Amino acid sequence: MQGSFLDALNGKITPVPPIWLMRQAGRYLAEYRELRTRADSFMDFCFTPALAVEATLQPIRRFGFDAAIIFSDILVIPHQLGQKVSFEKGIGPQLDPISAGTGLSDLAEELDLEGLSPVFEAISTVRSLLPRETGLIGFCGAPWTVASYMIAGRGTPDQAPARLFAYRHPEIFSELIERLIRASVAYLSRQIEAGADAVQIFDSWAGVLPVLEFDKWSFGPVSRIAAGVKAVHPDAKVIAFPRGAGVHLERFAEVSVIDCLGLDTSVVPEWAAEKVQSRTCVQGNLDPLVLAAGGYELDRSIDVILETFGQKNFIFNLGHGIIPETPVAHVERLVARVRGAG
Ligand code: CP3
Repeated sequence: MQGSFLDALNGKITPVPPIWLMRQAGRYLAEYRELRTRADSFMDFCFTPALAVEATLQPIRRFGFDAAIIFSDILVIPHQLGQKVSFEKGIGPQLDPISAGTGLSDLAEELDLEGLSPVFEAISTVRSLLPRETGLIGFCGAPWTVASYMIAGRGTPDQAPARLFAYRHPEIFSELIERLIRASVAYLSRQIEAGADAVQIFDSWAGVLPVLEFDKWSFGPVSRIAAGVKAVHPDAKVIAFPRGAGVHLERFAEVSVIDCLGLDTSVVPEWAAEKVQSRTCVQGNLDPLVLAAGGYELDRSIDVILETFGQKNFIFNLGHGIIPETPVAHVERLVARVRGAG
């Protein structure tokens, strides 16, 4: 039996929870690694609709997930605003960092949606090829998470460069966040027009923000993007994933324009069931490492999640993205167990 992704986002309790996984397309799949060789750079890969379509569909064919997420990256926005972005093998993203000296003068004020047309084309094609009952998710990075890469120019363990920059240069930083809010509303709205049923806002680095900064850089911008998208597309569904938000999740749950909240692995299950799931749909939160490890610990972790959240408004997912070491057999087992057959 399968659960309906859109039913869950519409507030319904489904007989079994729908399931999809963050970063479900990617290097843990041999067919992705083969496909990836057909483009030189990761950005070229993302901007070639035929490749993005195929990468999006690969995990759906293999596992029959209840939703597909369009294959792209959160860093297409800085790229389109004019920042140089590349991905180095084994290192991760590399950007020309924003400096206080030049500020935002090299960045466009408004996002040129034309340049992102390969993403929209890929969305329309995927929608036409997906089974009707399979949801299609568009996405963007939340302003804080995207800005943290734009300022550091790379991934860091705690986003200290962006946190320092926000304290030292609050005017430049807030202007950057404002631009990213506008860009994200435009980008997500256009993804919905192209055929996405839902959009997810990834605030992967929300958890490093100190409490006094949290509203300004995470809660505020994410809520404003959700409201901006809903103002244009009232029926579209919005999922927010403020990773590491802890008790702040309770406030996200009260925002009516956010339809579902992604939970990370640090969330206390009983607390989240009482304070968050009682108000809205939740999505999560299996540890990606237990999925990679498999065995008894995997089964037990799946069961605990199903027992805590499975009887209410719920979408099964990971607490963060799948890791490249994950055996395909463990993903098959997970899907079967969630659907009551494993
Ligand atoms: O299947 C899917 O989920 C769709 C594709 C997707 C990618 N990135 C593809 C990708 C999605 C939704 C993302 C989101 C993303 N990108 C986030 C937010 C989610 C999270 O994991 O926290 C962030 C922070 C990024 C930025 C990013 N992109 C980093 C830090 C890296 C390097 C680390 C890594 O995993 O390699 C990427 C590269 C990237 N994005 C890859 C993939 C499949 C790997 C590169 C490759 O295959 O060559």
